[in-house]
Amino acid sequence: MRIHFLQLQTHGDDRGALIALEQGKNIPFDIKRVYYMFNTGHGVRRGFHAHKALKQVAIAVRGSCRFLLDDGQEKIDILLDNPSQGLLIESFVWREIYDFSEECVLMVLADKLYDESDYIRDYSEFKAQVS
Ligand code: TYD
Repeated sequence: MRIHFLQLQTHGDDRGALIALEQGKNIPFDIKRVYYMFNTGHGVRRGFHAHKALKQVAIAVRGSCRFLLDDGQEKIDILLDNPSQGLLIESFVWREIYDFSEECVLMVLADKLYDESDYIRDYSEFKAQVS
């Protein structure tokens, strides 16, 4: 599976906690784009795509959600519920994101600007490309 977990160092003291994200240091690419999902409705399932080249790191900065990840060979289900855990997803991994908790803020860092032509949104096309 073309995914990795990144353990992000937390700087904590009696005031609370702080995590810094730095390209080429704890984020293993140059960060070109950051987006975040919030106010996700109950029961919503989103994603349903893979990327041809894009690399991303997803962090549940608040709350939790689940990822179903599929590289064409195997499927794994991951709970993201910790702001100090990053999920690195490489190219050609189909993802579906679901079970968003009400307060979930899911932040995603990406190594490229938004480009619809990098998306594979059809599952059978994805399966054909990874086989
Ligand atoms: P969409 O691709 O449907 O989200 P997901 O597949 O993760 O469920 O994106 C929702 C909308 O936001 C869609 O109109 C495209 C737009 N969008 C951007 O403009 N820039 C971005 O970086 C992303 C991720 C989406």
